[in-house]
Formats: sequence, structure tokens, C-alpha cells
Amino acid sequence: MVVPGATIDNLLRENERHPPPEWFRRHASWRDDRVYVAAAEDPDAFWAKQAERLHWFRRWDRVLDWDPPFARWFVGGKINASYNCLDRHVRSNRRHKAALVWEGEPGETQTLTYDRLWREVMRFANVLKALGVKPGDRVTMYMPMIPELPIAILACARIGAIHSVIFGGFSAKSIRDRVEDADSAVIVTADAGYRRGNLVPLKRTVDEAIADVPIVKHVVVYRRANVDVPMHAARDVWWHEAMAMADAWCDPEPMDATDPLFILYTSGTTGKPKGVVHGTGGYLVGVATTAKHVFDLRDEDLFWCTADIGWVTGHSYVVYGPLANGATVFMYEGAPDHPQPDRWWSIIERHGITILYTAPTAIRAFMRAGDEWPAKHDLASLRLLGTVGEPINPEAWRWYHRAIGGGRCPVVDTWWQTETGMILITPLPGLTTLKPGSATRPFPGVSAAIVDDAGNPVPPNKGGSLVITRPWPAMLQTLYGDPERYTQVYWSRVPGRYFTGDGARVDEDGYFWLMGRIDDVINCAGHRIGTMELESALVSHPKVAEAAVVGRPHEVKGQVCVAYVVLKRGEEASEFLEANLKDHVRREIGAIATPEDVYICDRLPKTRSGKIMRRVMRALVSGQDIGDTTTLEDPGAVEEVRRWLATVEGRDA
Ligand code: WTA
Repeated sequence: MVVPGATIDNLLRENERHPPPEWFRRHASWRDDRVYVAAAEDPDAFWAKQAERLHWFRRWDRVLDWDPPFARWFVGGKINASYNCLDRHVRSNRRHKAALVWEGEPGETQTLTYDRLWREVMRFANVLKALGVKPGDRVTMYMPMIPELPIAILACARIGAIHSVIFGGFSAKSIRDRVEDADSAVIVTADAGYRRGNLVPLKRTVDEAIADVPIVKHVVVYRRANVDVPMHAARDVWWHEAMAMADAWCDPEPMDATDPLFILYTSGTTGKPKGVVHGTGGYLVGVATTAKHVFDLRDEDLFWCTADIGWVTGHSYVVYGPLANGATVFMYEGAPDHPQPDRWWSIIERHGITILYTAPTAIRAFMRAGDEWPAKHDLASLRLLGTVGEPINPEAWRWYHRAIGGGRCPVVDTWWQTETGMILITPLPGLTTLKPGSATRPFPGVSAAIVDDAGNPVPPNKGGSLVITRPWPAMLQTLYGDPERYTQVYWSRVPGRYFTGDGARVDEDGYFWLMGRIDDVINCAGHRIGTMELESALVSHPKVAEAAVVGRPHEVKGQVCVAYVVLKRGEEASEFLEANLKDHVRREIGAIATPEDVYICDRLPKTRSGKIMRRVMRALVSGQDIGDTTTLEDPGAVEEVRRWLATVEGRDA
């Protein structure tokens, strides 16, 4: 197992403590430990109370129906997510408050009030209706980080359509797989997006993706970059033309609380991405409650979650969570280091950002760029910092706390997953004493445990698998079209418990220390990449016979992917081919999955039964102890791996 959070540094500094600063605690939304106790005594009552903060067309009959492994939250309730994110505020004194403050990579800015956002959403909802979209239909988005993406998302929610957002870095092939799996007839995209001064040709990639996919009937194209794109008559429509023709008013569809709100594809341990399905009522309660109390969100905040909306973090903490609270959200389109490594710090200073929520990989990259970049800017508006996506090493935590937070801002290290929908393990900034490197405790109303391979709880400070022992409101409902896989992946390892796939331990104070994935998922720069996905991409290359992909620790990205490839008989290894294989993966999956290194070798280390010894390879490439292999694999083969790795490394040097 690769354990970025459990370095010696981590173990040495474990005694470091940061109690909430008094100035923060005094005004925090939750600052009394009793919130944990009350929630633990009656979790359903706790979540029902949180649900009351939202608007329901009809109140629920039952808070939770738990028919393992399927949970139904707020059964009988009628709700609309867009109504809760928009209409509710438009009917209050927030009507002309800023909902979104946006900055494009070239530097232009735009502010949308709740009133304006609401109108845009209603109009775009009518565009979707005119294209034939009905409640329950799937709509795919492949968009840059521009306000039109949340507009399209909320428009789907308004009419009860299910959105499936695909991160703009995925390839044509990945888009096709997801569009087909979701059976989505409409795609929303843009001509192109800006990234590090370059144009990302989104529409062209969509065209390539769906060239022979007849289920797609319409593509709506937003003109972001003013580049020429071919428009297919009858199929493609311009966003601005469709909006000009659409009606202004669109009533929100009252949905069942248990109706799906969106699908989001994520990597698993097999080749096929999983369509994680989130429901409406429970999801919204979960993200609204955590957004409010983990970030202590207030009306005067300018909240910046730097995640792309193409990932779950963007869904929950750029769009639904903050907007359900009537907060003001900041959104930035482009690269963090464009045109210089101080772009983010300049943004914070110019806009007066108060809360920054980002990933350890970004923090480490900035740390490397040097203190002089944040030092050029006045970051005094910040009052709270957050991290998500991977374990944060204490060194990066301390840098973030000092160089960005001026030593005054609490840092909330939040653990969660695409599947969990909402933050599950996290400090509450007004009451939790922080230990750098620990995500601290489960959020009130959430219960988690560490278990061994047999599913039994382990004592404090002993590593094991992190499981969640009780359903939580934003829990995934199923995997799209594949309830068996849902049951098998998450609920079969430890019966009755949700299996996270993460390793962790709990210390003597009940604090959780996350130690990374224990399955074949690589967490590269906070992005989940399934090794099987990469392997199937590699073997789809005509010259490749076999491939094995493992993660290797990386100073900035946490982990990178390393691929071992066996060629078909008669094929010649060359540097050119190695580069060609990297390119092939980029085309098949997308740039985020490109292997750092491709090693061409004669054979892969296997067990006698022919299983690739991935766990052993992983330990060896990471320079870690390979642990006990006697029971699982042919020990003789381990020596073979070692000899073989030495050869590969020798050749590489
Ligand atoms: C990892 C992102 C340690 C973990 C929200 C999890 C973390 C995976 C943390 C989910 C954290 C996320 N500390 N590890 N604070 N947050 N992870 O689905 O391995 O993209 O299982 O969701 O990221 O990644 P996903």
C-alpha cells in the first residue's frame, strides 16, 4: 500500500495540536461538542432537523428506509434542488446578492446575482425541454469552468432531468463510453475552453466521441472562445440562439426525494467506470449541512472551492452545497499557474476570498514554487482553509497554514468520496482541535470504523479498512444500471458496512488518519484512476500483449501511474514506442491518466495461478517492504519480481 500520509514526518509530529482560535470559535456555527452526542443518540432526528432548513413541497413520511444495501432518505418527501438553490433565495433578501463570482483565465470577470442565475436557469431549462428532455432523462455536460456549467446543471435539476458531467480533460473515447452507458440523448458543451493560455477543443472532442453514436440527438454549444467549430444541422444548436428563443419562466418540477439527481462516473478496480447515482433529497440535505458547518458558511463569505465541477467536489461544494445555503461562490476557469504561479493569490487578494478549499497536490505544487509568490499578495481576507482529495502530509499542512493562512486560519482536512456525496470525516473549525495530517472525526450523524480483513473492529492505532457503519443522507443510491456491482463493490467485503476502499487507523483520541487506497485505484493529483482502466487502454494498442499499472509515490502529485508492458511477439521495444503508448493512453482516457513512465519488459511477474502480482509490484516500485506474501502468492515469484525490477531499473538508469 502506498501511504503518503504515514511518513516518518507524520509520525513524529503527531503531537502537534491546533485548537480553534478564539476569534473563530466565538462566531462559529457549531462550537459545542454536544452536537456530536445529540446526533449519535438519534441520527434520524438529527438529519430530519437538518432537512428542515430546506424547502419541501411535501414533507417526508419517513427519514430513512434502510433495506441493506439500499437506503432511501426522506421517503415520501417532494423537493426540487434548483428551487432550493435559487427560488428560495430569490424570495428572500438575498435576491440581488451575488450567487456566482467568476473569473475567466484571460482575466475577465462576471458576477451573477441569485436573481440573474435563477432567470438563466429557467431559460435554459426551457431550452432542454424544447429539445425533448423529460424528467428522468440523462443530459451530459462536457464544459469548461464557466457559469454556464452550473446553469446547465441547475436547469436539469429544475426539470427533473439527471445530469452527467464529464470532466473536460477526458478523451473522446471516455465521453463515448459514458454517454452510451447513461443513454444520454443531449450533450451540452462549448466551442472551446481556456487552459494555460491554450484552447481546449471541447466541441471537436464531442464530435469525435459521438460520430457513430446515434443515441445522441442534440448538442448544445456555448460560444466561449469564439473559435470556428463545425455545426451539424439538425443535431447541433448554439446556446445563445436557443436561449433567445426560449421562454423566460419555468416552474420547478416537484421530485420525489429519492429520485436520482445526477450520475457521476468514477474509476473503480475494473476497467469500466462506475456511474455513481446520487438522489435528490438526501444528497441535498447532506451537502447543504456539511457546507454550512464544515466551512462555517455565512452570507458575507466569498467561498472558493477550486475543484473542477467535473469532479464530485465541484458538484457538492461549488454548486449544490453553497448555493443551497445562499452563499456566494467564487469560480475560476483556468490553470493555477497562469500566467504566473501567483494567479490564485492574486485572485484571493483582488476578490477578497474568505474561504479556500483545495487539494493537497495543489498545495504541494505551490509550496515548491516558493513562498515569494503568496508573499506578493495580501491574503488577509482569508479566514478558513480546507483540503480534500488525498491525505495531506503534515509538512504541506503546515506550509498551507502558515504561508497562505497567515498562521491564523483553521485548516479543515475533509475526507470523502464520489460515492459518499458529502464530507464524512472532518474537523468542525469552531470546535475541533486539529492535528496536521488527520481528518479528525466523523461529521455528526456519521459513524465510521476501522476493521480487519475479517470485518472485526481493530484497536486504536492499528491500521485496517475504513468502513461506514450506518447510512448517511448523501450516500450513493446505486451504480447506474448495475445494482449487482453496487452491492458487490461496496457491501460485500464487510457485510452490512459500506466499504470505502481506504486504509486508515484511529488514534487514542478517536482521530482518523487516512492512509490511501487499499485497492487498485491510483490517486494521482487527487484524481482517481483505476489501474484496470489503464491496463485495458494499454492492451488495446495493437503492439501490446499484456500490461500492469501501479502507483508510485510522487512528491507533488501524491502518486503517479507507472506502466509495465509486454509486447506481442515480434514487436520491437523503443523509446518511440514508449512515447507512443503514453500518447495512446492519453487518447483513450485523457491527459490525467497518462503514465509517468512506460517500461517495456519481457514478462510480468505472476503467481503460479497466473495472477499479476500487483500488490508486490506496487510495494517494490515504491521502495517499501513487500510484507507477508507467503499465504497469497508463490514466494519464489517475489524474488523474480525483484530481479526483474533491478533489470528494468538498471536499463533505465
Ligand atoms: C481520497 C474526492 C485522505 C481517498 C472527494 C478517497 C482522501 C478518494 C481525502 C476519493 C482526505 C479524499 N484524506 N484521503 N481528506 N479526501 N481522499 O471519489 O482515497 O475523487 O477514497 O472524491 O480520495 O476520491 P474521489
